[in-house]
Amino acid sequence: MKKLLSGEWLFYVDFNNDGIKNKLFLISNIKNRISNFKKIQIPSSWNSYQGLEKYEGICWYFKIFEINELDENNEEFFLLFNGSNYQTKIWLNNNYIGLHEGGFLPFKFKIKNSYLKKSEKNYLAVQVDNIRKKNRIPSKLFDWYNWGGIYRDVFYEILPKSRIDWVHIYTQISKNSAKLICKYYITEVKSFNYELKFTNKTILKGQVKPDTEKGVFYIHIENPLFWSPDTPNIYTILLNFSDSNYFTKIQFGIREIKINGRFLYLNNKKIKLYGINLHEELIPFGRAIPFELRKKDLLNIKKLGFNAIRTAHYPHDESLLCLADKIGLLILEEIPVYWNINFKSPKVFKLAAKMIQDLIYRDFNHPSVIFWSVGNEIPIESYDCHKFILNLISFAKKIDPSRPISYVSSRFLSDHYRSKTDIATLNEYFGWYLLSEKNLNFILEMTRGISLCYNKPWFITEFGAGAKYNYHSNIFERFSEEKQASILIRSIEIFNSKDWISGWFIWIYRDFKSAFRDNKYQNGFNRKGIVSDKNEFKLIARLLPKILKKKRITRKFTFISRLAIPFGFFFTFVFKIINIVNILESKKADKFYSDKYKRDF
Ligand code: GCU
Repeated sequence: MKKLLSGEWLFYVDFNNDGIKNKLFLISNIKNRISNFKKIQIPSSWNSYQGLEKYEGICWYFKIFEINELDENNEEFFLLFNGSNYQTKIWLNNNYIGLHEGGFLPFKFKIKNSYLKKSEKNYLAVQVDNIRKKNRIPSKLFDWYNWGGIYRDVFYEILPKSRIDWVHIYTQISKNSAKLICKYYITEVKSFNYELKFTNKTILKGQVKPDTEKGVFYIHIENPLFWSPDTPNIYTILLNFSDSNYFTKIQFGIREIKINGRFLYLNNKKIKLYGINLHEELIPFGRAIPFELRKKDLLNIKKLGFNAIRTAHYPHDESLLCLADKIGLLILEEIPVYWNINFKSPKVFKLAAKMIQDLIYRDFNHPSVIFWSVGNEIPIESYDCHKFILNLISFAKKIDPSRPISYVSSRFLSDHYRSKTDIATLNEYFGWYLLSEKNLNFILEMTRGISLCYNKPWFITEFGAGAKYNYHSNIFERFSEEKQASILIRSIEIFNSKDWISGWFIWIYRDFKSAFRDNKYQNGFNRKGIVSDKNEFKLIARLLPKILKKKRITRKFTFISRLAIPFGFFFTFVFKIINIVNILESKKADKFYSDKYKRDF
């Protein structure tokens, strides 16, 4: 059983970082100091609380709770956090339980029976810090707001010691049938039953007689209902040991994603992605977006005509994937290996590997997830970086050979590693950061050529322009809605006219907070959203349904890729300069967060 612990908790801002020294986690101290703790709602981002808007530091959370009976011989007790940013340390009833590093994925700790108090109060103490550090992922510089705290749900879980722990379901399809390849891990080797259902109708039943904890079984289905954005059919499989009425329930979709040459196929049909990027942020909630508002975002995105979302730049709450499965949206997921992290550190590599593994284990059975990305706009030219990234990709491939895996590149001509990934990606901002969208056609052909990536699908994973909502001017005026619309429309028409571009993702759905976006139009927000931070539709959002699939017949420029080598060196130099700009901006971010925060919290 799973018991929700979210709701009202006690909270303490550890401005002087002396909580551990003062043993704040001891029951006696929790009781003695309870009067100077504040109350906070979990899940929440602490920066959404007045006085902590810019707080980057340490906070403590306390929860006093009772547990239902626990059968110590046959059951195990876990504490489960769906997400807490960035580092989380846990104590229960004076006992140190453990530490989790990483701000965007679930983690759970098994609790020894001797640490638990049955039929009396249990004291949970949690220390969280959201301090940016060089050896963290992401590192010190990132273009999103550093929302801290326990911003997703917390549970305790009582599970049978003998259980079917997880099942990963691959699906191979043919015209009128499908083969389910079900990889499983069980905690005790004994036979188990499964029942496959669609809506509430039982399709078939079966039994597996395993001889090891890890294994695979196969299910063959005639005339399955495939999953796709237009037909989001969800199946359920229930599994239980023959001698137990504890059921493991898995929901999944029958679909197959494949790459053949320069095209992407879903269920053996060529598909193009019309996508948009999305940060996990909604003011005033920060990252702790209420389910109904998350659902509204996805329904609006679908209604605008998009069929894909890139969950920038980190794993979002799993509820987004459940919604995408049901609404019918394709998802590109990513871990926050973003810009410059410490690619030289084996510890950082291990952390990145754990992040991609945890992401794949969490989301494996979501049919909406079709790609994994192990990083964004990383300095792939550097030896340490591409060694780190290529090793990460091969590690991820071993866990999930069924989905394309890549990193997202911002290099036009200095990235010679696209040839090693399943898909080719490119973030470009022509018309906004450099040159004009009119140069796009030429540059895209040159990039494709220089990257020696003719025979794989390309995705423009980011393109965009800033606009302050309701600021109107001509199409040349930066931050006007008209300029944003003209750049996006021209870019979309060019992408749609190239059959080797299998998809694109606008940067970004909604304006979002960012520490170093502070000119008079931005006021602390990155304004590239097609809707404002208050969900007001900008001009481009109103035009999109009409232009989403429009093409612009352009000159092919196919010969250009051969003649582009000298440009390659020039653009590599240009990107070195842009990197320098990023480093300078990181100083701004440091200053922003280190501002003296108000102490009236
Ligand atoms: C980059 C980066 C985004 C950033 C965007 C921008 O491509 O991937 O995280 O927000 O550009 O500059 O707005």
